[in-house]
Amino acid sequence: MSDSVPRPGRATAVAPANIAFVKYWGAVDLERAIPRNPSISMTLSRCVSRTTVEAVPGPGDDEVFLAPSAVDGPAPAPDEFARRVRAHLGAIRRWAGVGPGELRFRVTTANSFPAAAGLASSASGFAALAVAAGAALGRRPDGAELSALARASGSGSAARSVLGGYVEWPAPGSAPDDPRAAQLAPAGHWDLRDVVAVVESGPKEVSSLAGHRLAPTSPHFARRLELLPDRLDRVRRAIRERDVELLGTTIEEEAVELHLVAMSSRPPVFYWAPGTLEALAAVRAMRRDGLAAWATMDAGANVHAIVPAADEPAVAERLAGVAAVRRVIRDGVGTGPYLEDEPAQSGPDAAAGAGGAGIGPRRAGGSAR
Ligand code: PMV
Repeated sequence: MSDSVPRPGRATAVAPANIAFVKYWGAVDLERAIPRNPSISMTLSRCVSRTTVEAVPGPGDDEVFLAPSAVDGPAPAPDEFARRVRAHLGAIRRWAGVGPGELRFRVTTANSFPAAAGLASSASGFAALAVAAGAALGRRPDGAELSALARASGSGSAARSVLGGYVEWPAPGSAPDDPRAAQLAPAGHWDLRDVVAVVESGPKEVSSLAGHRLAPTSPHFARRLELLPDRLDRVRRAIRERDVELLGTTIEEEAVELHLVAMSSRPPVFYWAPGTLEALAAVRAMRRDGLAAWATMDAGANVHAIVPAADEPAVAERLAGVAAVRRVIRDGVGTGPYLEDEPAQSGPDAAAGAGGAGIGPRRAGGSAR
């Protein structure tokens, strides 16, 4: 952590969602998002949260707004969302050594994609909050420290979204209390795309936090933990060797198992919708027709087809033709969060502040199309 005294400023960060190849499901300590198992993800490029944090000197409540749209002005964030953001800001204050009455934060945030639909909006949102708040305080956390700061939100997947490319977030073991994500390979290593078949765009009925809590009640949970080391090895090897078939078969097996555990939890949790099965069938049919597409789903109904760049246009077209698919989002591997240029009132440290994490004012990464 920087040893400079926090100096109130303002910063805007853009942070991407990620899609998990091996899922975080079940926690050793849910409050602190200490995962039961290691997870591996691909950081995306276009599905992003854009968050501005202003640190205002003096006491007062933190304010949380949703960014203005084309028709509406800024709106106060919904209560539950604002509560989670305020709790995260409290953790950021403690990290920075700022007393509660010393400064308050004003946060404005927006997503480029439907929130709470299994598209990792909490990952991008809390990663953007950690990057922007750190920079607004003139701090320069490196990637590992940002990962810990993002995890302090309670959203474990946010710990992976602070890094670009292919990212592993370990389970406790080497660092029992504080697992921090690390990059397995940069975005430029492998141009994979994520074609998302959106079959549901409303909020899901059961949050991922509730899903983590219920996971150990499934009779399949313990068996999953036994199977995971081999599966993690296969995913690491597939990424290292750019082996799309090994990656694809492994992530499909993993996604189905996550949902098997959810559906067999007590009480059961069904994230799938009828459209999920239609999209999965379409992905299998594409493979029969020679396209290299494999499916995965996070805690939601939407289906992510992971494909090499060359097959993306055909896969997107085929998914758009599935009756249950309302919208197709074309995304791909990205280089991680960045700070946007701020006008002169932001402290000079705020703009430079993200340098330590390889984060600087720049455009989204490799797969921006
Ligand atoms: O970070 P959380 O608490 O929203 O949990 C994420 C759960 C999954 O998306 C299903 C898996 C993952 O590793 O992202």
